[in-house]
Amino acid sequence: MKTLVIGAGNMGLTYAEGMAQSAMLNRRNLMVFDKSADVIARLRDLDHFDVYESLEECLPQADMVFVAVKPYHCDDLFEEMKPMVNKEQIFVSLMAGVTINRIQEGLGVRKVVRSMPNLPAQVGKGVTSYTASREVSRVELLMVRNLLDTTGESIHVENENFIDASTGISGSGPAYVFYFMNSMLEAARKMGFSKNDSKVLVSQTFEGAVELFNQNDLSPDTWMDRVASKGGTTRAALDSMDDNNVKELIKDAAYAAFDRAVELGEEK
Ligand SMILES: NC(=O)c1ccc[n+]([C@@H]2O[C@H](COP(=O)([O-])OP(=O)(O)OC[C@H]3O[C@@H](n4cnc5c(N)ncnc54)[C@H](OP(=O)(O)O)[C@@H]3O)[C@@H](O)[C@H]2O)c1
Repeated sequence: MKTLVIGAGNMGLTYAEGMAQSAMLNRRNLMVFDKSADVIARLRDLDHFDVYESLEECLPQADMVFVAVKPYHCDDLFEEMKPMVNKEQIFVSLMAGVTINRIQEGLGVRKVVRSMPNLPAQVGKGVTSYTASREVSRVELLMVRNLLDTTGESIHVENENFIDASTGISGSGPAYVFYFMNSMLEAARKMGFSKNDSKVLVSQTFEGAVELFNQNDLSPDTWMDRVASKGGTTRAALDSMDDNNVKELIKDAAYAAFDRAVELGEEK
């Protein structure tokens, strides 16, 4: 299965690297195309996959095409791709908001998988939600899933609404975690810890809490109760967050990303 990745930025390159390092594809079957001369030169030096500077040379021979450009570049890209695509090819979009219908119309094709990855894919800890047009067969979808899984885990969702919704949870979610980390780092610095000690305190706290959470089926509420005793320090912190409505504000933020994903799909 010859696979082409279009757009070798954060996401496209992450997927290309993930696929290159897996047993799924051998080197001859992985092609990368980017329009930037700098990116092409850097990737050629890296020599992990075949790098192309013209779509004519790579797109017609691809069985599967990952599209990883920014959503606002997609219409121009589709116009350029359209004369070179065929109906047997499978197109896997990583673009936020761009609907399956828009991809089908833009390219004149039927087999489309829409996915929503996230940045921890760079360290093999990503989570990708995906859904497909009905023309993609079960076997083809399994092949796509295997490729998506080279960067972490994936979940299949029944319809595109869940792709936009997962943008608000997992796609944009790493930034919410960094936001929370940033506040804790600032508090630690203000309390007088060195930069390095603050980093250790905060990152170990996140890592440890996630590890505990993953070890069994206890809910976050139960874990909070285990840490916080009545009249104690943690309860004081949690009460402060509740008084300031932090929980609702975080939910609002996730919905803002969800709504923006829907808007992006409508923008031309
Ligand atoms: N980053 C994330 O955390 C994240 C999470 C979930 C989903 N996504 C989705 O992933 C997609 C890519 O995001 P990204 O952060 O990887 O973007 P990025 O770093 O900007 O990478 C996109 C790459 O594609 C190149 N490009 C633009 N137009 C092209 C064209 N017509 N043909 C070939 N290459 C082209 C860009 O070159 P120039 O820089 O020269 O334009 C750039 O090298 C987006 O649609 C985004 O919605 C990203």
